[in-house]
Amino acid sequence: MTKQELIDLAFTAMENAYAPYSNYHVGACVLCKDGRTYLGANIENASFGLTNCAERSAIFSAYSNGVRKDDIEALAIVSDGPYVAAPCGACRQVLCELMNEDTPIHLSNRKETCTKTISELLPMSFGGKDLEG
Ligand code: THU
Repeated sequence: MTKQELIDLAFTAMENAYAPYSNYHVGACVLCKDGRTYLGANIENASFGLTNCAERSAIFSAYSNGVRKDDIEALAIVSDGPYVAAPCGACRQVLCELMNEDTPIHLSNRKETCTKTISELLPMSFGGKDLEG
């Protein structure tokens, strides 16, 4: 699958966003090395803190189906916002736990696309290594 096809799948996922409060729709897609894909969208709640971001929806879906970090080829996160869909801080922490540090993360708002890794998005992260010993 090309990068653009993965981004297009994330835009398809975005159509299922449930965002009546912010009206900001986000989509995401995890692509596995064997070609499997897992879609996610942001799902809001009237108790705002319970909202689930699109990239967490997608990666939790992948993990729920047995995917692990070494299986993941790439992740795409998209929105129709004025800037590329940079993941929030909470999502960066979750992606740091659940993705390899060099796996590409494509961010797009249709007009512009850039590719980052989680180690670029969340340098000097806290993780399991800090709890060892
Ligand atoms: N949102 C995401 O889905 N991903 C992010 O990384 C940033 C924020 C969602 C959460 C909420 O539904 C809406 O965007 C506005 O914050």
